[in-house]
Amino acid sequence: MDEQTRAKKNAGYYAADMIEDNSIVGLGTGSTVFFMMERLAGRIREGLRVTGIATSFQTERRAYEYNIPLSSLHESDVIDIAIDGADQIDPAFRLIKGRGAAQTRERCVAEAATSFVVVADKGKLTDTLSAPVPVEVMSFAVPVVMKRLSAIGGTPVVREGIKKDGPVITDNGNWILDCTFPLIEEPEVLECAINSLPGVLSCGIFTEFTDKTSIVIGTPEGVEYLSL
Ligand code: 5RP
Repeated sequence: MDEQTRAKKNAGYYAADMIEDNSIVGLGTGSTVFFMMERLAGRIREGLRVTGIATSFQTERRAYEYNIPLSSLHESDVIDIAIDGADQIDPAFRLIKGRGAAQTRERCVAEAATSFVVVADKGKLTDTLSAPVPVEVMSFAVPVVMKRLSAIGGTPVVREGIKKDGPVITDNGNWILDCTFPLIEEPEVLECAINSLPGVLSCGIFTEFTDKTSIVIGTPEGVEYLSL
């Protein structure tokens, strides 16, 4: 296992150990979350009782494989703890997410959660958010949304499938635009501007959960636990 993978595993395992008995758990998406689910599956075998709410088809499939019981927001609209990955994390715990195109469901689950735990390796920490911002958009609205993103200084590109010709289609049936900005000076303002465009489901900037966020940064040797 290489150093980055060991770091992700340490972060994931630590976060899984934060889960209390009888909890409703938001299950994020991505490779670090999968380590959390691996450890959670072990704890369930030892008797822990939890119900998961998955943020993607990929996570749902992994939960079936690991025998993690699942529910939905219809049955449980309050989540005790949501554990998710991130692509960038700034010192104020603002995030860019959405490499896996799952940010809309991830946002819904984070919103419903009492506590939001982000699991990542050190490479995700940054002084300033700068990664391309994934934006989930209804295909119907894509041309207009691209124009509006360009007008606010972005360079949007339609995310293309791998092993699938044409655009990536999200779990919700929409397209993803990856939008680069030369500088993200005020993430809150940009998040709000993008999310209020008609046809946009959600962008990958997450600034509104910082009050309930803690960060588990994995290292090859262990973890650093960060809270504000
Ligand atoms: C998916 C995400 C992921 O949580 C994020 O990309 C981190 O993934 P990984 O843990 O594999 O680095 O936002 O939409």
